[in-house]
Amino acid sequence: MSKIRAVITAVGGFVPEDVLTNFDLEKMVDTTDEWITTRTGIKERRILKGEGKATSYMGVKVVEEILKKRGISPDEIDMLICATVTGDMVFPDTANTILDKVGAKNAFGYDINAACSGFLYALTTGSKFIESGTYKKVIVVGADMMSSIVNYNDRTTCIIFGDGGGGFLLEPSVEEGYGVIDSILKADGSGRAYLHMKAGGSLKPASSDSVNNMEHYVYQDGKPVFKAAVTGMVSTIKDLLERNQLSIEDIDWLVPHQANMRIINSVAEMLDFPKEKVMINIHKFGNTTAGTLPLCIWEYENRLKKGDKIILTAFGGGFTWGSTYLVWNK
Ligand code: UT7
Repeated sequence: MSKIRAVITAVGGFVPEDVLTNFDLEKMVDTTDEWITTRTGIKERRILKGEGKATSYMGVKVVEEILKKRGISPDEIDMLICATVTGDMVFPDTANTILDKVGAKNAFGYDINAACSGFLYALTTGSKFIESGTYKKVIVVGADMMSSIVNYNDRTTCIIFGDGGGGFLLEPSVEEGYGVIDSILKADGSGRAYLHMKAGGSLKPASSDSVNNMEHYVYQDGKPVFKAAVTGMVSTIKDLLERNQLSIEDIDWLVPHQANMRIINSVAEMLDFPKEKVMINIHKFGNTTAGTLPLCIWEYENRLKKGDKIILTAFGGGFTWGSTYLVWNK
């Protein structure tokens, strides 16, 4: 009997309307469009604005698009995993809020906190629930409202991040060789020194001091993160290729986390991978943390063909990183 695989049967994505350009940032911090463009490749990013709007708002939009495209009702969802570091609240989890807002009465869900690698962790976990035969319709969402944890006085971080999210509906298939085939996921907790939020957790609960010291924002020491990102993504891609007896020429699309165009270029160059087959939307959306990978697929979906071999790769806070190999099934 053929192995059950998780195939992607619908893709959703959402970015807010409000645009924050490099020229806007020039008026907010000591920076220039030229610096941001040459150092990161980012020209603009989206910002979620409006009373009561948070990460679940974007997650709901993603799920609604998925349901519409697939022509199914919310009641048919079995499970939803939401990758995010900017959940609406510390608890409850945002997955449950999304399920409630879309009216999914028969589903359960939970959040995964793995920063920029969160979507790969969620996709891999969701696929296992399908492969095991436990569930038939699992939605994985990656969404972050980074504007809620970015200090718009810190020029080293506020230029990078934006808000947005995307997701996949996963369903079982026994058609040989399609769907989510393999993942290599990694973590090194010592990397927390370089990328974290200092306060708001149990280590340092919110206090007037933590607010005055600006400790509820992303802290990043960019250089070590940059280096570890390149080596981490390249090594997991190489291992994944070897484990699946593939060469780089077999791959139709590389979908890298959109953190910095220079990181993306270094990864492609180290792998000798053609740039025109690398999915890019960093110039428009910046780094949406857990949102970047599904947002790329959402934007490039009409260029994908059945049988396309795709590698998704990410690196982020934790440190967390990894790569996933999938074969497009639609
Ligand atoms: O997605 C999660 C994982 N995160 C990442 O993958 C991000 C990895 N890191 C990076 O992308 C880059 O390290 C940054 C974009 C964050 C910074 O770029 P960089 O080329 O590493 O710059 P740098 O930190 O070495 O700074 C170079 C100079 C410094 O000035 P001095 O010391 O040379 O005088 C900075 O103060 O650029 C200065 N600088 C800026 N100048 C204008 C830093 N930020 C800015 C800015 N505008 N926005």
